[in-house]
Amino acid sequence: MNSKSKLLGLLWLPLLAGCISAPHDAADTDRRVATLLAQMTLDEKIGQMVQVDLLALKDKADIQKYFLGSMLSGGSSDPADNRPQTWLQAVNEYQSWALKTRLKIPLIYGVDAVHGHNNVLGAVVFPHHIGMGATHNPALVEQAEHVTAMEVAGTGIRWAFAPCIAVAQDERWGRTYESFGDSTELVSELGAASVRGLQGKNLADSTSVLACAKHFIGDGGTQGGVDQGNDVCDAATIRKLYLPPYKAAVEAGVGSIMVSYNSWNGKKMHGNKYLLTEVLKGELGFKGFLVSDWAAIDQLAPDYKTDVENSINAGLDMIMIPNGPGQPNNYVDFIQDLKQLVAQKRVPMARIDDAVRRILRVKFQMGSFEQPYTDPSLTAQIGSAEHRAVARDCVRQSLVLLKNNNLAVPLAKNLKHLVVVGAAADDLGIQCGGWTIGWQGETGKVTPGGTTILTAIKNTVAPGTTVTFSPDGSDVKGADAVVVVVGELPYAEMKGDRQDLSLPATDIALVEKAKSAGVPVITLLLSGRPLILGNALDSSDAFIAAWLPGTEGQGVADVLFGDYKPTGKLPRQWLRDNAGAATQAVQPSASAPLFPSGYSLNN
Ligand code: BGC
Ligand code: BGC
Repeated sequence: MNSKSKLLGLLWLPLLAGCISAPHDAADTDRRVATLLAQMTLDEKIGQMVQVDLLALKDKADIQKYFLGSMLSGGSSDPADNRPQTWLQAVNEYQSWALKTRLKIPLIYGVDAVHGHNNVLGAVVFPHHIGMGATHNPALVEQAEHVTAMEVAGTGIRWAFAPCIAVAQDERWGRTYESFGDSTELVSELGAASVRGLQGKNLADSTSVLACAKHFIGDGGTQGGVDQGNDVCDAATIRKLYLPPYKAAVEAGVGSIMVSYNSWNGKKMHGNKYLLTEVLKGELGFKGFLVSDWAAIDQLAPDYKTDVENSINAGLDMIMIPNGPGQPNNYVDFIQDLKQLVAQKRVPMARIDDAVRRILRVKFQMGSFEQPYTDPSLTAQIGSAEHRAVARDCVRQSLVLLKNNNLAVPLAKNLKHLVVVGAAADDLGIQCGGWTIGWQGETGKVTPGGTTILTAIKNTVAPGTTVTFSPDGSDVKGADAVVVVVGELPYAEMKGDRQDLSLPATDIALVEKAKSAGVPVITLLLSGRPLILGNALDSSDAFIAAWLPGTEGQGVADVLFGDYKPTGKLPRQWLRDNAGAATQAVQPSASAPLFPSGYSLNN
């Protein structure tokens, strides 16, 4: 090609990309990908494979300079004041830098919208997956994810790092609540429903966002429930316990999959070519792209360049690159290393082309070339009453009634005096759990909007009923009934692993104090996993597992006062003691559960 026709060819490209309108058929998309790929330099290709965290980006102009294909916000990487409008402006500005590049390939921005658009102030926060698992209701999961997709798109973002489709086997693992449950079938069914809810009927719809099934594979099967730990099992176990949810997600059309930090028999997943390339892309026919987890390739060792070589050759298509303290490798190193690796033929050009083809295909399917910016009318709907109503329904359906002596539940709305005990009853942050505004979550009024359980109770009782709040349980005299709210404080990955799963003695003491009133005691547990209940169960007349319900505490009151009949069932077994933290599937010597998976009183 002489330089003039080359120039003409280049001028045509954006036009070509822009003039074919969505939806496209697969062959059409593949043709567009091939045309674009043929025009790309190695630098442009490598840029597509890079995903930089918002806090790691040194200069916005780097998006243009290095042809960056993707950015993300990690658990605590929020723009300035963390309001929806600010997110929209920030993401749009990053996009505008990508559109300044020669080929105008749009940026894809990702975020951990794992129970609603949970990073963003004022967004509706849904129950964590463990609660959604308790609903056993795929249509509801799909509906919830559709709402999440709209809220995500309302901030300019088109990609959620969800659903987590771990089949958590050992609840000492701090991410147990990110798993729908301990059964492969339940996780497969609800995982596929999530993908459908996020991606909608057509990825190009303005209310669809790209889903990302994670973390491939065996994240919920590590020995002792250690986060980022090691799965010790044979291939048949991996295939039977953990692979079916991925098969279901691929069949539901999931466009991206995140690889897991964990190892399998001592080998890190990020370097596992057999599972990433042969099984996932080959056998399961996954056509989307694989993204690495946060700085996860850095763990492959012995040096960063070899990490890059091993992960890309294993089948990773896009690398998530933060640059926090203690993480010396930044996106510029990655780009230089990968370029050298290609020049040295340590990474084949065919592998680069395959990775970029996969990423571009998804971007075309999303209609991003035609519509690089999201529909701004979606921003105002973030945290709307309609969205909150869906989350409230999820909360109602997630509650599991484990004990109900003398039909203590439902409570009458017209009792004279109801006492609510436990600081958690009036704490939005505790009911939301980890991955809420901050990475690890936080206690207190974590986000605007939403209803604490105490407020929900006050909203629901008859006008003549007095509701008093005794956080420490010291004042229960004169009550006609006592509602006790106990549970875990917020935590997320790495910091949530526990060896002892007992409900703290102080929480048990709260239930005992409530019991001293000699009236019905209804205990609500807010937790990311079943806990060893001891006397708290015995001393309660009714006991409800409420998981981590999110912002819409009104759904709890709906069940408590009988406006909604409890329908939730345990999404995982309920341990009897610490020796029963694991399921029999991974630890046949574990003690028998107190309640089996699927249990509830309403069975
Ligand atoms: C987590 C992922 C998350 C990513 C980005 C990682 O540490 O394991 O689940 O998507 O961070 O925040
Ligand atoms: C980020 C998270 C990430 C974690 C892992 C945090 O600083 O906000 O998104 O998963 O680091 O190290």
